Amino acid sequence: MSDPRPIGVLDSGTGGLTVAHEIGRLMPGERLIYAGDTARFPYGNRSEETIRSFALQGAENLFGRDIKLLVVACNTISAVALEAVERQARDIPVIGAVLPGARAAALRTADRKIGVIGTPATIRSGAYKKAIDRIDSAIKVYETATPLLIPLVEEMMFDHDITRLAVQLYVYEMIDLGVDCLILGCTHYPPLFAVIQGTVGTRMQIIDSALWTAKEVQDILTALDLRNESAGGGPGQSQFYFTETPLHTAGQLPLFFGEVLPRQETISFGGERKQ
Ligand code: DGL
Repeated sequence: MSDPRPIGVLDSGTGGLTVAHEIGRLMPGERLIYAGDTARFPYGNRSEETIRSFALQGAENLFGRDIKLLVVACNTISAVALEAVERQARDIPVIGAVLPGARAAALRTADRKIGVIGTPATIRSGAYKKAIDRIDSAIKVYETATPLLIPLVEEMMFDHDITRLAVQLYVYEMIDLGVDCLILGCTHYPPLFAVIQGTVGTRMQIIDSALWTAKEVQDILTALDLRNESAGGGPGQSQFYFTETPLHTAGQLPLFFGEVLPRQETISFGGERKQ
């Protein structure tokens, strides 16, 4: 069976485009409907209650668009509100961004020491630690909130001394602790891959949660026989909705998505301030 319905992608803003990009790379035939809450970005510094309420508004919008599966691309929403979104989903499968990366790291750590970097809300939730504990409770998990990294990525300061210093500030302790796998637990970190790898060296494997989330989508769609086998899907047919026109349209969006975004529109999640 071939299922041409789109995959919904929920995010707090534009960072989830890193996940959308990986899905497009792995499954070029799939059509996406992306919803990013740029008007209320970022979520990572907010309370659990607020994140949950925003996430449910965005998810409801996507559930109303005949999607075959919802990917919660945002690590913060996945860490704090995945169960609430799953309850709202009824029979639509929901994939979060935390478990795929946690599983990949747990399989790869030889010394059983995993580091996680993410937003303050993701780290406060302990979601990665809980997920890894369930897989192998002997693995030690060191989690660090890295709030300076998102603004640096938003400013596209990848190859910059300030960014190198910020990365050092956050990961040096993990090197000392003997961490051998570092999970990038945030949609915004893939563009920092090179600077992070340059800082931690090759002894530490970097696990990109965007890539592993996309692989999980591929596995679940295949297992449920929901792949789109017909021609004519793909990023060109995808739709990108934002609650406010993203500021860095020219530079940042292609950077996260890998190419210029086709079909971009503004929508309302229902609760944000009027446009
Ligand atoms: N999308 C968020 C995440 O992956 C980062 C941006 C935010 O704080 O909203 O955690």
